[in-house]
Amino acid sequence: MKKKILVFGVTGLLGTSIEKIFKKDKNYKFIGCSHRDIDITNHKKLKKLLQKHRPNFVINTVALIGINFCEKNPEKTMNVNAFSVYNLAKICKSLNITLVQISTHAVFDGIKKKPYDENDATNTCGDNTGIAFVEWIPLRWLSLSEPQENKYLYYQI
Ligand SMILES: NC(=O)c1ccc[n+]([C@@H]2O[C@H](COP(=O)([O-])OP(=O)(O)OC[C@H]3O[C@@H](n4cnc5c(N)ncnc54)[C@H](OP(=O)(O)O)[C@@H]3O)[C@@H](O)[C@H]2O)c1
Repeated sequence: MKKKILVFGVTGLLGTSIEKIFKKDKNYKFIGCSHRDIDITNHKKLKKLLQKHRPNFVINTVALIGINFCEKNPEKTMNVNAFSVYNLAKICKSLNITLVQISTHAVFDGIKKKPYDENDATNTCGDNTGIAFVEWIPLRWLSLSEPQENKYLYYQI
């Protein structure tokens, strides 16, 4: 039977690329959700949508990515980049959906000569409060996860 994969942020740069891959793959039924379909900060609608589709996997590529914008709009940024992810993780956990959360590499300072991994300490440059919001996500979100189930994957790219 085909696995169902649902992607949030499907009209974004990353979401569009992910769509191309999974639409070609006969093993998956692809469901793409744009901002028009769902505002990820609307938690009631988010839950209803996931209850309706019951995907096996969710990939969340929704984010406010402009650092200057984030710093000028901390409340909105916190809602989209942090609280929504926290809620999405809770909903996925309750519905037994595997969640793949995409984040940014911009939590690292770029000084290390080798590629960074998730165990490296974060160090944002200057007074970069916008990025600090991004750092908040994995900490809160991973605290919901149960690693032995391998149900929650967190990627920084
Ligand atoms: N692209 C890269 O090279 C790159 C590199 C490193 C990390 N990343 C990470 O990958 C993730 C996605 O990046 P991206 O480049 O694909 O960003 P993007 O092109 O800006 O896409 C983000 C998507 O999120 C949607 N969105 C924003 N607010 C929303 C909301 N409240 N509800 C629902 N949808 C909403 C946007 O829709 P609207 O435009 O219609 O609002 C857009 O489709 C981010 O976490 C980013 O940090 C990307």
